[in-house]
Order: sequence, then structure tokens, then C-alpha cells
Amino acid sequence: MKTQVAIIGGGPAGLLLSQLLHVRGIDSVILERKTRDYVLGRIRAGVLEQGLVRLMEEAGCAERMHAEGYSHDGALISYGDEMFRIDFAEHTGTPVLIYGQTEVTRDLYDAREKAGGKIEFEVEDVEIRDADTDQPHVLYTVGGEARRIECDFIAGCDGFHGVSRQAIPLSVRREYEKIYPFGWLGVLSETPPVNHELIYANSERGFALCSMRNENLSRYYIQCSLSDSPADWTDEAFWEELKRRIPKAQADQLVTGPSIEKSIAPLRSFVTEPMRWGRLFLCGDAAHIVPPTGAKGLNTAASDVHYLYNALRDYYENGSETGIDGYSQKALARVWKAERFSWWFSSLLHRYPDQAAFDLKMQIADLEFLRSNTAAQKAMAENYVGLPY
Ligand code: APR
Ligand code: PHB
Repeated sequence: MKTQVAIIGGGPAGLLLSQLLHVRGIDSVILERKTRDYVLGRIRAGVLEQGLVRLMEEAGCAERMHAEGYSHDGALISYGDEMFRIDFAEHTGTPVLIYGQTEVTRDLYDAREKAGGKIEFEVEDVEIRDADTDQPHVLYTVGGEARRIECDFIAGCDGFHGVSRQAIPLSVRREYEKIYPFGWLGVLSETPPVNHELIYANSERGFALCSMRNENLSRYYIQCSLSDSPADWTDEAFWEELKRRIPKAQADQLVTGPSIEKSIAPLRSFVTEPMRWGRLFLCGDAAHIVPPTGAKGLNTAASDVHYLYNALRDYYENGSETGIDGYSQKALARVWKAERFSWWFSSLLHRYPDQAAFDLKMQIADLEFLRSNTAAQKAMAENYVGLPY
């Protein structure tokens, strides 16, 4: 098989890139390890920056997102029984859109299917070959049958556990990582959200987050021990702990119900440099991971896709290699700003095991400063709604 761009990974990054390339008449093939239903079964964050909204519009996939998404002009931060609001509209003039990543992925799958896009599911043994030549190709199997794709370029959109990052030689690759000493226990419940905007809570018992998908689908998280498993937490224990971590007024209003999904995610900051090796370009989680606190995972995958899509357009439409030569540096410049914000916001809101008394005082002072200082709130809002591409 021949294509212009071979895309490894059918998550949001690979799908969005493939659909954008299609709109510009550039051919691609997606190789996905799992089934479509498996990919759509993943529960992920649901806060979209305007940059991603614009990309979905450019990809012709924004209709349902605009119909069902919720525009949010602010978010709340609480510590103990104190709570204050960060007004995105006042500080940036930009909202965020609340719309589940699962729905973004579903819309993209539907668009690729409608366009007759080539997606191979349940692929195995993916190998990237000759990425550092002008004739790269990908080997893989489907149902035990060996296959080969000749291509001009390879987009590694196969997430943190994919194979693309490993194709960059260790002599070239530099990796940066921070593992956080806690996880997030998340619950999805068919209950009305406790608040119409998100609540990020720092409490003496640990972090909590109150989010939503729609008027009757809420998403809650509490910081938990890395040794916990979802089975350790009954629904009742989860709700009681969540109530202890958010202000009393909201706790008293919390509508609880059976969990329809319950899972624990570890928290990690991770970046690979460079994000390009010859004709191979890494996008999204294949290149970087953020703790979910700032909801930057999908949104940073989107900015990678923006840079790579425009670089490939420039190559095919104008014969210019400027974009592809500048991709890694340009993408990493924004990736590191998202890493910083995600690390800072996580450090502000979580209680760390064995946290020194002084460090706790610094955390509360940081919260008090953010609460009282317009410049601090503007800086936080600009990062949260999304820095410019
Ligand atoms: N071959 C083919 N596909 C693979 C391989 C492989 N060897 N390894 C992984 N994949 C697939 C996974 O099954 C997954 O569907 O690549 C896809 C990668 O998707 P994501 O992990 O969702 O990563 P990305 O598309 O970059 O999206 C980033 O999604 O998972 C969230 O937290 C993440 O919000 C972030 C966003
Ligand atoms: C979510 O709704 O899943 C969500 C929202 C905001 C975050 C993280 C997760 O920062």
C-alpha cells in the first residue's frame, strides 16, 4: 500500500491530523492497535481550548460539538471553605468548551468514515523503517498477515505506550519525566453537576475536581494513593470523601448516584525531544504527557497537529520544507509551556505525602495571591484557556 502520510495511532491526534489532511486533499492511512469501540470506551478530560475548536471547524467536524458542548467563561478554585472564581472572559475574552474527549474522537471517526478514510484496526507488530531516509515505510500485521505501507512521511500519534518514540535513536532522544506521588480516582455518574462551572479544590485531605459532561452526566475526581485500586472505593466512600474536600455549601448540594465508570489514573509529566526524526514526526501523547489538572493533554496534542498539518500542507502545496524542518522546535515551545502550567496547577492544588509545613504555607500563600491579584489571575486564565499557537 502507498500513501502520502502513514499515521500510527487512531486516537484524537491521529484522527484529527488525518481529517485535516483529507480536507486539503492529502492522503493518509491510520494504523490503530485497538478496535474503534475500544478507543471510544476511554474516558478522558472534557475541556477544549478554542484552538482545538477551530481545528475541528476546519476539519468539518464541529457541528455536534457546538450543538452539545457547553461554553464556560470561568472556573472556581476552593481551599478549605474559601472559594474564588477565575473569570476567563474578563481576563482573556476567551471561553473554554466543555465537551468530552470521547465525543471529539467519535466525531472524528464519523468524519473519517464518511470521507472513506483508510483506517486499519487491530494492527500488530508495527515497525517504522527508514524514517531517516526519503523512502520511509511501515511494516505491520493484521490477523497474522504481514503488510507494508510506503509513504512520504510517518506521524507517530500512538500515545505514551506506542512504538513511534522508540524509533528515534537513544543517541538522539532526550527524555524528561516527573512522576507525581498520587493518582486521581475518577467517577462518572448520571447525576446533575454540583456546579455549572468546574470546581478545583485543594483541601487538607487532598485534591478534588467537580466537572461535567452535560446536565445529567457529572465527572468527579479525588486525589488518591498510588496503592489504591478502584475496587477499594465503594460509591458511598467516594461520595463521602468528595464531600469532605469541597466547600460545605457545595457538599450539601451534591447529588450522588451510582458510578457508571470508576478508574484511577497516575499523574506524570513527560517530554521527549526532538519530536522529529527524519520523516517521522511525533504528535500528542507519543511525545509528551501532562498531569490532567490543567486539562492540557488533548489540547496540546491539538497544537502539535496544527503545526504538523500546516507543515505538511506547505510541503505538498508549495514544495517548502520550512514547516517540517521547524516542526519540532515550534511544537516543543508550546509543549513546555503546557507542561509548566500543568505542573504548577498540580503543585498548587494537591497535598503531597510528607509535605513540609513550610511548603504547605507556600501553597496557601500561592492560593491567597492568586485569589487577590489580578495579574496572577490573568496569567492563570491565559494558560487555562490556551496560549496562542
Ligand atoms: N500501533 C498502532 N496503534 C497504537 C500503537 C501501536 N503500536 N500503540 C498505541 N496505539 C494507539 C492506541 O490504541 C491509541 O488509540 O494509538 C492511540 C493513541 O491515542 P491516545 O493515547 O489517546 O493519544 P493522542 O491521540 O495523542 O491523544 C492525546 O488522548 O489519551 C488522551 O490523555 C490523552 O488527552 C490526551 C489525548
Ligand atoms: C474532566 O472533565 O474530565 C476534566 C476537566 C478538567 C480537568 C481534568 C479533567 O482539569
